[in-house]
Amino acid sequence: MQLPCCKLRTHQWCFLLFNVLLFHALLFGADFVEEYLLQPFQGTYTDVKVLEVRERARKLDMTTARGNITQQYAISNPEACSGKDIFLLVLVFSVPDSADHRETIRRTWANRTHVKEFLIRTLFVLGSAPSLSTQDTVLREAELHGDIVQGRLIESPNNLTPKTILAMQWVVTYCPIARFILQANETAFVNFATLGDYLLTLRRHKEDLYVGRVVHQEMPDRDPSSPHFLSLNQYPDKYFPDYCAGSAFVLSQDVARKVFVASAGVHSPVPYDVFVGLCARKAGVAPTHSARFSGGRHIRYNACCYQFIFSSADVGDDQLASIWQDLRDEKSCSLLETYYGLVACKALTYLDKFSFFSTGIIRDADSHG
Ligand SMILES: *[C@@H]1O[C@H](CO)[C@@H](O)[C@H](O)[C@H]1NC(C)=O
Ligand SMILES: *[C@@H]1O[C@H](CO)[C@@H](O)[C@H](O)[C@H]1NC(C)=O
Ligand SMILES: *[C@@H]1O[C@H](CO)[C@@H](O)[C@H](O)[C@H]1NC(C)=O
Repeated sequence: MQLPCCKLRTHQWCFLLFNVLLFHALLFGADFVEEYLLQPFQGTYTDVKVLEVRERARKLDMTTARGNITQQYAISNPEACSGKDIFLLVLVFSVPDSADHRETIRRTWANRTHVKEFLIRTLFVLGSAPSLSTQDTVLREAELHGDIVQGRLIESPNNLTPKTILAMQWVVTYCPIARFILQANETAFVNFATLGDYLLTLRRHKEDLYVGRVVHQEMPDRDPSSPHFLSLNQYPDKYFPDYCAGSAFVLSQDVARKVFVASAGVHSPVPYDVFVGLCARKAGVAPTHSARFSGGRHIRYNACCYQFIFSSADVGDDQLASIWQDLRDEKSCSLLETYYGLVACKALTYLDKFSFFSTGIIRDADSHG
């Protein structure tokens, strides 16, 4: 008996094939075009101010300031990096109250301490605890795991820019050895294996690296009734500079220094990830886009997809545990399986995004991830 599909005529086959191709082109085309268009162009630094920031970053010497700087941290953890040749320093932005979630992260994606023979060190960056009892818990946790840096600043979504500056200051002061710095949101999932492999391929040209999901030409919020409102005085330009979405992005050590040096001259009350973009621009560093970072978007779980991407956002405790259970063994995915894994998770992610068919404009969640 002949299968019904085999009775199709040539033009019907062509039509089917065309649809399959179109589907893939639509699904992945945007990524390719994005990555191509958002290539950072290597600037020639003729701007005197840019040159000055780069020169100051190069000469930055924190050794004498160490003593004073300690006072800006309730837990300064100055030995967290010392004596180790750290390849990737991971700074997870966390809040004092989420001890349980930190424990989950330690047990799951941050459990990996090496890519190949290169060392990864994961630290949690916290602000001040809301109560003495929480602070007690944090102190005990810090003693037990030795992986906490706590700044003396109020923990609040409005304080993420000063928190980022404190984190960068910590890096340039206590961890100048780390070659790359990943800043991540505690609700994110990060795949050290793939990210590590990617960074290892960059070994030779690792200067000026600022990579993540680039948000291109985002407009500041000009609606006075919005909590993120920015007046023209606070931020006069039409667009934000291109920047990497805050849920996960990577800086090379020199960029961390440049951002830290430039931060002293940036005063706009923009979101913290935009702030990093502004500082980078002042230092002549352009962000590099990679679609393997998800930005503020949650990517539906699929083993072969999660073994390919660098990060996904908004992953809950339970989900993190089950994802890790599944991923830990690193069963290998063939090229075809990876490809279909990507198709599946991308298609499902799009469906999630449109699942409510809300009437308003669907804002890209990337911007404030
Ligand atoms: C340390 O702080 C004191 C007081 O704020 C200041 O006078 C001194 O210059 C600082 N030292 C360094 C090395 O920054
Ligand atoms: C990381 O995983 C190993 C092996 O699965 C386990 O023995 C270890 O306790 C884990 N580390 C943490 C901090 O949970
Ligand atoms: C982390 O992500 C959550 C939502 O996914 C967001 O509410 C929170 O502000 C983010 N925190 C940081 C430090 O970006």
